[in-house]
Amino acid sequence: MALNFTSMHRSHHCGELRIENAGQEVILSGWVQRSRDLGGMTFVDLRDRYGITQIVFNMEDDAELCGKARKLGREFVVKITGKVNERQSKNPKMATGDIEISATKLEVLNGSITPPFTIENETDGGEELRMQYRYLDLRRPVVQDKLILRHKLAKATRDYLDGQGFLEVETPYLIKSTPEGARDFVVPSRMNPGEFYALPQSPQTFKQLLMVAGYDRYFQIVRCFRDEDLRADRQPEFTQIDCEMAFVEQEDILNTFEGLTRYLVKELRGVELPEFPRMDYADAMRLYGSDKPDTRFGMEIQDLTALAQGKGFKVFDSAEAVLGIVVKGAAEYSRKQLDALTDWVKRPQIGAKGLVYVKYQDEHILKSSVDKFFDTEDLEGWCKHMGAKPGDLALVLSGDLNATRKQIGELRLHMGDQLELRDPNVYSPLWVVDFPMMEWDEDSERFHAMHHPFTSPKPEDEAKLMTDTASVRANAYDLVINGVEIGGGSIRIHDKALQAKVFDLLKFTPEEAQAQFGFLMNAFEYGAPPHGGIAFGFDRLCSLLGGSDSIRDYIAFPKNNAGRDVMIDAPAPIDEEQLEELAIALREIPKSE
Ligand code: AMO
Repeated sequence: MALNFTSMHRSHHCGELRIENAGQEVILSGWVQRSRDLGGMTFVDLRDRYGITQIVFNMEDDAELCGKARKLGREFVVKITGKVNERQSKNPKMATGDIEISATKLEVLNGSITPPFTIENETDGGEELRMQYRYLDLRRPVVQDKLILRHKLAKATRDYLDGQGFLEVETPYLIKSTPEGARDFVVPSRMNPGEFYALPQSPQTFKQLLMVAGYDRYFQIVRCFRDEDLRADRQPEFTQIDCEMAFVEQEDILNTFEGLTRYLVKELRGVELPEFPRMDYADAMRLYGSDKPDTRFGMEIQDLTALAQGKGFKVFDSAEAVLGIVVKGAAEYSRKQLDALTDWVKRPQIGAKGLVYVKYQDEHILKSSVDKFFDTEDLEGWCKHMGAKPGDLALVLSGDLNATRKQIGELRLHMGDQLELRDPNVYSPLWVVDFPMMEWDEDSERFHAMHHPFTSPKPEDEAKLMTDTASVRANAYDLVINGVEIGGGSIRIHDKALQAKVFDLLKFTPEEAQAQFGFLMNAFEYGAPPHGGIAFGFDRLCSLLGGSDSIRDYIAFPKNNAGRDVMIDAPAPIDEEQLEELAIALREIPKSE
């Protein structure tokens, strides 16, 4: 795209000039990516955000100018005037590869010390170093592309939701604790000594208040803050596409946001997604051992409990569940490969005690790690039950039902990776619905809201709320794509009596509920419409569409795994005076903390 430059610094950008421009006088400004001195000629690759253009300084034309060019270092900022010429040896890999600029003037706008790593797509800088000098890392085209994708995704989101009548409304960042279940980041209040704001874990309560206020289609691309352990898909501050609608049911929300997702994938990747399938939470756990199944491949979990017990193999006999998966075409796995898989499931992160395998080599020829307890007929029975064919490998784990489901679910993903069944260019979306409303927590011996305390029960389960709480399903849903939880939401409770009942079940006293969420419950006295919503993890959506595992790549200035910004060196201590002003007394912090 050509830009309209009005300053004297440039007539074009560094990604713009083509063979059609040959003969023109141009001015370019940018950074010196590299320069090559070939005796009579000096070549400089000039880079800006739009691309790279080759500049030539010719000794024969202007020895002084050429001498000046020879002194240019990497990352110098320069302004060049010259004439566009057709290149003798063209570079088809570069957009500007048909031309070069024969320089007639060179102005050094600023020098640069030698950068700590090469600022090119292939760099020699490690992650930590690049984060410390993130402003240099951001000059690299591959990194720029990621921020450009983020910008386009935000724009497309706004376009779509605006087209559907949604209003973007900003909600405050200095608030009171929100109910998403992580720890809050808190901010001390100087004007109210001893009191603290919490940064929002999401705008949940505010968007519900906006529904009471009558703004029946709200959205916001908004920063959220959660003090939780970090992983590749988690940052302490991250961005949501946060949405809420009034006068809707679950079906309306799923349709609206399936529409948004389809639009975004089409706009950004040119891929037309089919209608999104739906799966109950219970089925997701049973078939995939996860509430966010990667459905790009099958390999569903099979239940072997009934077939595998009662044959004298103690490990299986004492287990609550014996579960298996079939790995297609892997019957020829070597001893070494199977040992590696056994070690893999025994790692503390997975926590299985061992792995049983059955190689279905041919009709009636099966080899297993439990031949002592099971004859060929038994093993063939398992294989048939699991839908295995000759040539396949069955992998089996046993133990407590929930733990074993999780472990075999992880093993399934691992096998998916090994067999390259998780293609980043394939998108497999899925709505996971009918989540349990509450989960029993052994440690605190009470129920916790699985989503948050404003989520409504399914009307048909409401009667069981007080009597059979664990079996009550919620009007809650997650959008899962390729095994990543992209978004989650629910239909909310808008009835004060039901909300009070739920707080009671969650062991909030009426006083605690009033103190924490009184503002919302009071608002519900003034005509709260039925409402519900969803929030998408915007950074996760970026990384999904960009084909990368880490959301950090799509955040201009991210934190590292310890929650630190290593570039600005935050968090950092504050001085005594500031502490005093905020009425904060620090306890002695032992060295090890
Ligand atoms: P939830 O807590 O499920 O729901 O969050 C919605 C989505 O936000 C993303 N997400 C994160 N992304 C990066 N880093 C994190 N630390 C992080 N935590 C969450 C996920 C998740 O699906 N208020 C409710 C939504 C609602 O009910 O409408 C909420 O915040 O992709």
